[in-house]
Amino acid sequence: MIIKSIKLTNFRNHSTYKLTCEDETSLILGSNGWGKTSVLEAIYILTRGKSFRATDSEILNHNADYYRIELEYTSGEITTATYDGKTKNFIILDKKTKRLPKKYKYPIILFLPSDLNLISHSPGRRREYFDRIFSEFDDSYSTSLSKYQKALKQRNELLKTDSLTKDTLFSWNLMLAKYGTNLTKLRSEFINEINSNLTNVYRSIAENTDEINIVYQTEAPESEQKYLSRLEDCFERDHYLGHTTFGIHRDDYLFEFNHSLADGSASRGETRSIILALKFIEADLVYQKLHQKPIILLDDVFSELDETRRRHLVKNFKDNQVIITSVDMI
Ligand SMILES: Nc1ncnc2c1ncn2[C@@H]1O[C@H](COP(=O)(O)OP(=O)(O)O)[C@@H](O)[C@H]1O
Ligand SMILES: [Mg+2]
Repeated sequence: MIIKSIKLTNFRNHSTYKLTCEDETSLILGSNGWGKTSVLEAIYILTRGKSFRATDSEILNHNADYYRIELEYTSGEITTATYDGKTKNFIILDKKTKRLPKKYKYPIILFLPSDLNLISHSPGRRREYFDRIFSEFDDSYSTSLSKYQKALKQRNELLKTDSLTKDTLFSWNLMLAKYGTNLTKLRSEFINEINSNLTNVYRSIAENTDEINIVYQTEAPESEQKYLSRLEDCFERDHYLGHTTFGIHRDDYLFEFNHSLADGSASRGETRSIILALKFIEADLVYQKLHQKPIILLDDVFSELDETRRRHLVKNFKDNQVIITSVDMI
């Protein structure tokens, strides 16, 4: 699918704005605070179902009581979303739905300036990053994840109450074990798929013989039963601390550069090449899995890259629709 245009009303600082896109590459130029990332955010909501950075109440223009965004594809299909301060609705062919139906989702590869610091970010930021990517690969991943997160929240709330018995947690433990084992299996599978190409793609960008590998770090056992017993064993400690100390919400992804931790050993330029390679692989895997060419949203990353890496970026995504934001003409 190719985006033809995106229209924004009362969306962040835009009272009304329309971008007409090129089939290949579109450029949104504007100074800091002009509202460039917001345009990409609107595209992301209409293709993925929710923002990558905020809630709808934060997005709604401070002086307005509703926002409306409308995405038109070159095929003529139109996806609209509205938010009135309380409820968000997607509107497709005059039908309203609370969530963007799977059929109307479209894969996106989003490249934010903060992604360039992925290797040195906190484990939580890295988990968020890979959760977003894996949700692109597989819808069942995001369903399991949201069920896991809901169960975790409920369990943590119960753990904060004084008169709590082990049995009260049982049904939540069951859910965490079920979705936790499913997620750890998918995480490990997807990281293996990324790793199988990472070094090669990296070498094609960096033109050297370095080796890159991502290590998926988890305490989670493969069996659901073992996962459940681990949760039960943690009861005393969890109750004392008031939160769940075991599970896939504590996983991490460590980047290795020539078999040592990349954070600390890879240079700034090498780190940029690693992230670039990761993005290329994400786009390839999305295409392999979904048979759809993802739309590429590049938010202000050109200014962060040197000439060679920019060229690789352009060349790699020459068959995708690309929407770029920048402060300077590029
Ligand atoms: N809900 C809102 N209502 C009005 N303005 C907002 C809202 N949220 C953010 N802004 C403002 O919108 C501007 C555009 O943000 P952003 O899209 O991140 O700009 P850019 O990417 O061009 O730097 C910022 O100045 C921000 O303060
Ligand atoms: Mg921005």
